[in-house]
Amino acid sequence: MHAVFPSGRRRIILPMLIRPATPDDVPALTHIYNTQGVATTASYDLEDVDETNRLEWLHEHIDLDLPVVVAELDGRVVGYATYSPFRVKPGYRFTVEHSIYVDGDYHKRGIGEALMEWAISSARDSGIHVMVGVLDAANVPSISLHEKLGFVSAGIWKQVCWKFGAWHDVALFTLILSDDEPVQLAHGGC
Ligand SMILES: CC(C)(COP(=O)(O)OP(=O)(O)OC[C@H]1O[C@@H](n2cnc3c(N)ncnc32)[C@H](O)[C@@H]1OP(=O)(O)O)[C@@H](O)C(=O)NCCC(=O)NCCS
Repeated sequence: MHAVFPSGRRRIILPMLIRPATPDDVPALTHIYNTQGVATTASYDLEDVDETNRLEWLHEHIDLDLPVVVAELDGRVVGYATYSPFRVKPGYRFTVEHSIYVDGDYHKRGIGEALMEWAISSARDSGIHVMVGVLDAANVPSISLHEKLGFVSAGIWKQVCWKFGAWHDVALFTLILSDDEPVQLAHGGC
């Protein structure tokens, strides 16, 4: 089902389900990460991952009680979101870094925004204070998505990645979720 929004863009009217990922989702998680992350500068991984790698990755998250959710549309996994501790030292335990990936056949239909809204809501409910997006500085769709949802620029790390025969800059974007002092242990318990 589609609707035409004022911008003229077609968007899915979401009969979309966001649910926890399971091992059955590993083929889709692998495909989406390889095509949208490894094959681009959205991720600084250099080699395709295989399904064994993604299954281990999923189990690591589940074992640490870190969320991995998928967006499912008409029975097909079309994107995923996750977050994990920003850094391992305990003072960072109320700060997370998130990742959002959407299948290239389903871009610009509101799925990335829905996944990001889920991540923000989940992190807030888990007592997280700050979310950090660590983005390739040339990733216009991702930067635009973060700005749309209230993230603010927190600086650029110049030339910290070498991929595809070029240096790449990282743009940091942060969202402070509440003014409160922490009242519970953050997700991940780093
Ligand atoms: C970034 C990404 C997740 C966006 O997902 P999406 O489902 O296509 O995005 P949405 O349709 O929900 O768009 C939400 C907002 O994102 C921004 N956006 C999305 N695609 C864009 C594009 N091609 N150009 C500019 N802005 C874009 C816009 O602000 C948009 O709001 P609008 O529709 O009001 O203009 C998707 O492009 C993707 O998976 N990219 C590869 C992986 C990646 O870069 N992940 C982010 C790193 S954590």
